[in-house]
Amino acid sequence: MTRLRRGISRVPPDERPEYGRAANAAAAAIEEAYAERRTALRGRADGASEAADVTLPGRPTPIGTIHPVTSTTRDICAAFGSMGFEVVEGPEVELDRYNFEMLNIPRHHPARDSFNTLWLDRTDEAGERPLLLRTHTSPMQIRTMERTEPPVRVIVPGKVYRYEATDATHEWHFSQVEGLAVDRGITFADLKGTLYEFARRLFGEDVRARFRCDYFPFVEPGAEMAIAWDGGPGGGEEWIEILGAGMVHPNVLAGVGYDPEVYTGFAFGIGIERIAMLRHGIDDIRHFYANDLRFLRQFP
Ligand code: FA5
Repeated sequence: MTRLRRGISRVPPDERPEYGRAANAAAAAIEEAYAERRTALRGRADGASEAADVTLPGRPTPIGTIHPVTSTTRDICAAFGSMGFEVVEGPEVELDRYNFEMLNIPRHHPARDSFNTLWLDRTDEAGERPLLLRTHTSPMQIRTMERTEPPVRVIVPGKVYRYEATDATHEWHFSQVEGLAVDRGITFADLKGTLYEFARRLFGEDVRARFRCDYFPFVEPGAEMAIAWDGGPGGGEEWIEILGAGMVHPNVLAGVGYDPEVYTGFAFGIGIERIAMLRHGIDDIRHFYANDLRFLRQFP
């Protein structure tokens, strides 16, 4: 107002009434807009203070922990990674051709019975069902060899599915790590040395390993590996089977175009949940997938 009054003294007398009215109208509009904005801002601040006390320190957001099956998978991959194996992944919906046929398990072969299969509801022209949920990670042996020339050295972590009743050591969906090494001159001694080293990395220097004959149509000879270690089950005296393995069958090599007279290789399949159970002393595989946070929080 003081500035307005000072300004009006410079306006010619006959224009002063109009000048004064305009100036007063402008001042009133500015004051009204200012009051309106101030009320709006105060209201917003009042509302916010009801919802949250902005002076309180923030609450930490729970970020969860790594699932024990995931951490075991990572440790297994790290152990083989340091021995020169590359990690690859493959499809969970698989062709009969890769899951069975090219693994030396033709249709109507009795070995199919040991892989209780979940089939996809699709039939081809021959009335056969070509698609299934993979029962093991072994189909990736074929997929890998089909697209690579030797030398091959891969591991394949992933989910597998079997139409099985569940109990303390069996789930109908579980995880495996497949391993495959093919080159000139690979022997059973390479298989044993690699898997023994893997066991030492996961279970410690004092682990003992035992290989016994087993049958898988895609390897010859086939073996199961069991381990025992100080502080392990049965006071370290009990042998626990952890994987199936063997030398890649010549029919499998020939099927992907590798000459079995030139190349040899070994393969193995490890059950990841079983390894995680042994490492953490877990007595029932079903705990992993029950979604009980009290169980999962034990693995920070
Ligand atoms: C196989 O699946 C073969 N593909 C393994 C293999 C690969 C042999 C390459 C030779 C060469 P098997 O059905 O035994 O084999 O399963 C391998 C491992 O998976 C077992 O040692 C066990 O640790 C785990 N496993 C098998 N069935 C189940 C199940 N229902 N629940 C949890 N783990 C299982």
